Amino acid sequence: MTYRTYHTYLTYLTFFRYPLPHMPAPSLDLLVSLCKRRGFIFAGSDIYGGLANTWDYGPLGVELKNKLKKEWWKTFIRSRTDMVGLDASILMNPKVWEASGHVSSFTDPLVDCKKCKQRFRGDKLLEEKLGVEAAAILKLDQVQKMLMAEKIACPHCKAVDWTEAKRFNLMFKTHQGVVEEEAALVYLRPETAQGIFVNFKNILDTMRLRLPFGVGQIGKAFRNEITPGNFTFRTREFEQMEIEYFVEPGTAEKYFDVWKDAVWNWYTGLGIAKDKLRIREHDKDELSHYSSRTIDIEYQFPWGFGELFGLANRGNFDLSQHEKFSGQELKYTDPDEPTKKFLPHVIEPSFGCDRTVLTFLLEAYTEETLPNGESRTVMKFDRRLAPVDVAILPLSKKEHLIAKAQEIYKMLLDKTDLTVDFDVTGSIGKRYRRQDEIGTPQCITVDFGTLGEDPAQGATDTVTLRDRDTLKQDRISIGDLIKAL
Ligand code: GAP
Repeated sequence: MTYRTYHTYLTYLTFFRYPLPHMPAPSLDLLVSLCKRRGFIFAGSDIYGGLANTWDYGPLGVELKNKLKKEWWKTFIRSRTDMVGLDASILMNPKVWEASGHVSSFTDPLVDCKKCKQRFRGDKLLEEKLGVEAAAILKLDQVQKMLMAEKIACPHCKAVDWTEAKRFNLMFKTHQGVVEEEAALVYLRPETAQGIFVNFKNILDTMRLRLPFGVGQIGKAFRNEITPGNFTFRTREFEQMEIEYFVEPGTAEKYFDVWKDAVWNWYTGLGIAKDKLRIREHDKDELSHYSSRTIDIEYQFPWGFGELFGLANRGNFDLSQHEKFSGQELKYTDPDEPTKKFLPHVIEPSFGCDRTVLTFLLEAYTEETLPNGESRTVMKFDRRLAPVDVAILPLSKKEHLIAKAQEIYKMLLDKTDLTVDFDVTGSIGKRYRRQDEIGTPQCITVDFGTLGEDPAQGATDTVTLRDRDTLKQDRISIGDLIKAL
């Protein structure tokens, strides 16, 4: 772009203000393509043809995910006096999983297509036809009958010929040490929660906490899902952000509602539209073995509503099981009444980190038509989540202009903790398009006005600050720049 067209572009963008017409929500394919093209998420082991449904976060994806985790940690751990953090091991004593009930109960109903031998989750096949509530309450021996009665075809070969459903345990097994024998069997944790329960006594003994208090952690979990899919929605390796909130027996329902509101407000406060979220209460028959009440917060994904977050009342199930299996006392002693000893009850807010990232990506994706008919794709992330906070774009590759832009770049790195991009390649229009597509809230253009060489472009030591959403362009002095970001 020449300087003249650059100026025409500036005038045009400043002249035509929003609202611009919005396009409908993206298909998953459009988002997957943007994620790959712009370095958010790549297929895992890509150069080897991938590994079924594994995904790698690229340079921008990891920034987005880290910012999301930082926001979560800030809201739920650091800014609360009743919360502490933890980072427990992925590999744990196998007895943990016997005590927690995962060895006996952490299963999905597996069915085989008799014709093509492909394997599927029976409940998920039924879910599309019957709805999630109806499918979730079916007993194992009803799954095949229902698949046949509803004439549900194999997604692979279209036959309607299913085996009886079998229980398939979702825990990944491996062996610790050099001998692959049963005694060395360990599991990759299927939830981060148990790391918190087994550290309950350590935390109680060291942190001088009084009920109610909570422990949060962010970490990887692994499930050998029968049918992973829908991009990062259901994968075999994923991250959770979990809280176990310990309360006095009899107060759990009160805290259940407090957490429901806190989590709802967190999601919507970071930009998820309320009308794309809904709360779904689990039917009694659908509850996990440890829960007396569960709700999910579901998001309207391109394929329909899906679970984003779960809130469960785990009672004292886990602490009492670990007391039994470990032989250690895990009771809480009331500091005001030392004779009063009891197992606290637990409210568990459990967030899927990757699903939350996916939700923010979908929610941010916007296609707009500008008044001149041109269209742009823009990721309208909340500023707290945008992978790049600000981009510095020198108008030309002239050495002294780049040097000035680099001075500003260094100033921002030294004096702020912003993530700053520096982009010199391509026309200014193309660079704005790229920054829009990665969701950069502000761009700083350094031009010959900045250098005092062309007053028509602006006064000496001023730069143009462009806003991603309004496209408004302000000329501001370098001295005021940090305040304006
Ligand atoms: N500790 C309780 C627990 O793990 P969950 O409902 O099984 O509860 C919590 O999982 C959250 O973890 C879910 O709401 C979902 O966001 C995420 N999650 C579960 N399985 C997942 C998978 N296979 N891939 C990605 N995220 C998953």
